[in-house]
Amino acid sequence: MNWIMQIQLERMCGKLEFDIIYNQDCIDGMKLIPDNSIDLIVTDPPYGIKYQSKFRPKTEKFAVLKNDDNDLRFVSYLEMFRILKQNACCIVFASWKNFAYDYMELEKLFSIKNTIIWFKKGGGMGDLKHSLSTDYEIAIVCHKGKCPIRGKRDGSVWEVARMNPNNMQHPTQKPTELIERLIEKFSDEGDIVLDPFIGSGTTAVAAVNTNRHYIGFEVDETYFNVSLQRLDKAEGKGRMNI
Ligand SMILES: C[S@@+](CC[C@H](N)C(=O)[O-])C[C@H]1O[C@@H](n2cnc3c(N)ncnc32)[C@H](O)[C@@H]1O
Repeated sequence: MNWIMQIQLERMCGKLEFDIIYNQDCIDGMKLIPDNSIDLIVTDPPYGIKYQSKFRPKTEKFAVLKNDDNDLRFVSYLEMFRILKQNACCIVFASWKNFAYDYMELEKLFSIKNTIIWFKKGGGMGDLKHSLSTDYEIAIVCHKGKCPIRGKRDGSVWEVARMNPNNMQHPTQKPTELIERLIEKFSDEGDIVLDPFIGSGTTAVAAVNTNRHYIGFEVDETYFNVSLQRLDKAEGKGRMNI
């Protein structure tokens, strides 16, 4: 066996190489990953609410997210449970509008230990007259077995400034700092972190910044290309919030 094949073999997770984002449907992709082989899942699936900001021009770049008008994510939860290691954790972002449905689906598989409230320090616009501003998002912390927290026992409200909209390359892009904090709290260096709905690649950038391996799937070619550009910068220049 030559050294290239040797390196490739060392970077395999079943039939998939890790430290790669795949431009494909995550359910097909996850079927190639063996049972009990992923150390942490952090994901922000399409919310099932046909998300599109009313205050952003309807450009090609920020078109309606793929699969945001259906419940495909519920099917993906079955695969996520299968491939997650025992005593590991799966963190799923959800919108307050349908968070209850995600909670109920996830609870059929996992033991839900917490929800983390990401306090964004500022909300979107919305109905200024009748509704309070939504200045938070919810992440559901699901355990397969019992996943230990790393470092100190934090509270469940995490204050991290949201992205400056001018710097966003994806309509629901998460701050890298937030995802790094989740990765560090629920995994160890060298672990494999999976994001089946990786969008602009934030989870992969955060994994690189925290010395973890990653696997990502993104079905939309535009966002897939954005994720590759962001990864190039992260892998080339070391720790940075891009
Ligand atoms: C809420 S966004 C994730 C944004 C991400 N957290 C970020 O920081 O950029 C969900 C993404 O899932 C993608 N997606 C939808 N269905 C998919 C599927 N079946 N397989 C893989 N990706 C999918 C969408 O194109 C979208 O970019």
